[in-house]
Amino acid sequence: MMTTQAPAFAATGITKTFGPVTALSEVDLSLRAGQVTALMGENGAGKSTLLKILGGDYQPDGGALTMGGEPVTFAEPHISRQHGLRIIAQEPEIIPHVDVAENIFVGALGAGAFSSRALRTRASEAIAEWGFDGVIDASTLGSALSPAQRQVVEIMRALVDRPAVICFDEPTSSLGDDEVAILFRLIRRLRDEGVAIAYVSHRMAEIFRLADTVTVLRDGRLVGTRPASETDEEELVRMMVGRSLDAFFTREPVLPGDPVLELDAVSNEHVDGVSLTVRAGEVVGVAGLVGAGRSELMKTIVGDFAVRSGTMRVDGRVVDFRSPSDSIRAGIGFAPEERKAEALVLQRSVKDNAALAVLRSITRLGFVDAAKERELAQRYVDRLKVKTPSLSQLVGKLSGGNQQKVVLARWLAMSPRLLVLDEPTRGIDVGAKSEIYTIIDELARDGVAVLVVSSELPEVLGLSDRIYVMCDGRIAGEVAREDATEERLLSLAMPHHRQEANS
Ligand SMILES: Nc1ncnc2c1ncn2[C@@H]1O[C@H](COP(=O)(O)OP(=O)(O)OP(=O)(O)O)[C@@H](O)[C@H]1O
Ligand SMILES: [Mg+2]
Repeated sequence: MMTTQAPAFAATGITKTFGPVTALSEVDLSLRAGQVTALMGENGAGKSTLLKILGGDYQPDGGALTMGGEPVTFAEPHISRQHGLRIIAQEPEIIPHVDVAENIFVGALGAGAFSSRALRTRASEAIAEWGFDGVIDASTLGSALSPAQRQVVEIMRALVDRPAVICFDEPTSSLGDDEVAILFRLIRRLRDEGVAIAYVSHRMAEIFRLADTVTVLRDGRLVGTRPASETDEEELVRMMVGRSLDAFFTREPVLPGDPVLELDAVSNEHVDGVSLTVRAGEVVGVAGLVGAGRSELMKTIVGDFAVRSGTMRVDGRVVDFRSPSDSIRAGIGFAPEERKAEALVLQRSVKDNAALAVLRSITRLGFVDAAKERELAQRYVDRLKVKTPSLSQLVGKLSGGNQQKVVLARWLAMSPRLLVLDEPTRGIDVGAKSEIYTIIDELARDGVAVLVVSSELPEVLGLSDRIYVMCDGRIAGEVAREDATEERLLSLAMPHHRQEANS
């Protein structure tokens, strides 16, 4: 019945260019009330650009938009919103110096008249109504929010407008399993209430759990649209990358060498009595739920946070890093979780960003000359298939996933003693993911010690020789690859586990 009506929203023949780059060419997308339409494609395929056109952020060069069959034009974002469309941005802009309540209602339709106290009350009610209490609090300052919480604030911004069409641009890339479950419940509820939903994600499993229809883009062109029940992972991968990919990567472990990193009862305000070892040639995974302290532990290791008690050794020598530059000098490379904020220089070129670590650190260590290293950085940019018109393109103009790839290229090219990777494949497409696994494997084979944080359990399981599971800032357990299953890791990651174990 629903499907015979005009779609809630349709875009037809959409074309959009940025100078020499054709981001979209004759693309069609229709979104129906009460349905979830997944939008898939490799990094740079044009997904975010299409959503930005729906949101009125970009004007198409050609094509037409209709709502309920009627033509519409969105000359500006607020016109799109007045028509009941909301886009959940891939990289939410959070105002750091105001609280969650104000961040939610910033620019909301008709919110200007409220005092900040009234806003806080309204925000708390809305947060509870949509099931996000316990995840965010109306009074928290924007600057204190984790990536997952920032994403939830961005979602709340849309919900308070009660939109008829909501587009999610990779909403789960910074969320842990708990938050993903909350988000999925929310999306199903919106769908049941008749909202038309577009959903961008690189995670196959999510697509099959959520979507009614899948639309695939490749290089700015529409490859096809399929009912989710009539397609499978293999077909979608083929549609996205234009060829088949091997099954999930599984690393063949090598005999590990001497310990490169040793932590003995390391504590500070973020982590509590952490002991762990990473040997040369070993890939060690760190699993845990959001808030377990995994990123904080990585930042402690690289000198972002000071060690208050306990000892840390690198190559057997006690170290006391005062800043990340100390750890870089000791041969530690670190690709942080919030790559855009913490690692990229958006106003500089792809080449400068990719070569940064190489030029600064490796040459200082005296291994190779700068020109050679630049060449190496270029090679990783190629291997990860960074989609960019040229090496001199500003990084800020690349798609979200391609920005991620540039930072990773930088650290993978650096080939340090110890490589610390926090969520290395977040936001990265299927083709580049398997390439990243292969590069990590090769680095380990060359004797690099690798410590990887990942929220994707299949990734931790496929990649790691050994896995530490964190909970509440502590190591809740260590699991050898032979014994590692998703269930085992999850049960260790749950906060109740330790109490049970102690009782
Ligand atoms: N403002 C801009 N200026 C120049 N080029 C741009 C701009 N915005 C997007 N592009 C280019 O348009 C293409 C499509 O980018 P888009 O962000 O839509 O990709 P995407 O499918 O969302 O990828 P990802 O999965 O990495 O987020 C890319 O080649 C990108 O570099
Ligand atoms: Mg995008």
